[in-house]
Amino acid sequence: MKSTIIKRRMLFLLVCTLLVFSCTKKQTEEIKQPQKNIIVGFSQIGAESAWRTCNTQSMQDAASASGIQLLYDNAEQKQENQIKAIRSFIVYQVDVIVFVPIVQDGWDNVLREAKDAGIPVIIIDRKMRVADESLFTAFIGADHIEEGRNAARFLLKKFKDEDRNFRILEILGTEGSSVADGRYAGFREIINTDNRFTITASIDGDFLRSRGKEIAETYLQENPELPFDILFSHNDGMALGFIDVLNNTSIRPGKDIVIVSVDAEQAAIDALKEGKINCVVECNPKIGDLVIDMVKKLTEGKSIPRTTNISENVFTEWDDLSLLPLRGY
Ligand code: AHR
Repeated sequence: MKSTIIKRRMLFLLVCTLLVFSCTKKQTEEIKQPQKNIIVGFSQIGAESAWRTCNTQSMQDAASASGIQLLYDNAEQKQENQIKAIRSFIVYQVDVIVFVPIVQDGWDNVLREAKDAGIPVIIIDRKMRVADESLFTAFIGADHIEEGRNAARFLLKKFKDEDRNFRILEILGTEGSSVADGRYAGFREIINTDNRFTITASIDGDFLRSRGKEIAETYLQENPELPFDILFSHNDGMALGFIDVLNNTSIRPGKDIVIVSVDAEQAAIDALKEGKINCVVECNPKIGDLVIDMVKKLTEGKSIPRTTNISENVFTEWDDLSLLPLRGY
């Protein structure tokens, strides 16, 4: 009798041990189970500005911090390279495609291919025009029309008490891009409410500092007397290129010519502090975390907002910028 009880107890203990062991083993297996490896194809337009380099870095940092594999392609300013990259992401069957449309038109076919392959597409920074809006899932980026408005609002405020006329030279960003169109439209929307201001010339600068320099050289050669009062540059790089040339003349940037630009890269903030630029409208390139967060939500089957705009600042000659942290671009 006693030995039967002992045997039963031993059997019970054995069953319990097996149960605990199998439970532990199962839990361990679940923990070790690798999470789905998310792969994102990212087509960037190039490295035309400090802004762009920072934008790329922000995407790469955010992806690696989240353990997401980012297939990065630099299109070197060519739409056809972006289309090729998107096609290769489709062949690779990435989970999500993220890209910056260099220009607004010409994406329908490749995006239909992505849609047919069941791959969601997020566009960042720049917008595009497609016949079928369902070809992309979301846009994340700045409101470029508002940036243009803010540039003009600064001028109206700066000259509110002056009874004279102002000639404006505008240096445009990449032709056909939503960002150049947005800044162009927003600027006019506000500046045209005041007939003291006339945009006397609009010249394509392609967002390149070298183009800003070229434009200044040509323009000043053809019009040696001060040909305008205000420079509105669609980005800092082009404004800084323009200032490089002015620095070799007797024309004082920020004084003889009022300069407003967009991006707020460190070099422009420094020029603002030196009095060579009067206003810098921020365009924030550090959107990597936000984009990767949306990617994660999408891959978890959650819905994401169709449009996410980033809030941005305006830095002016009236601000105390001594405590402004370094911009990082
Ligand atoms: O699309 C954003 C613009 O592109 C930035 O203002 C400019 O610097 C960049 O190259």
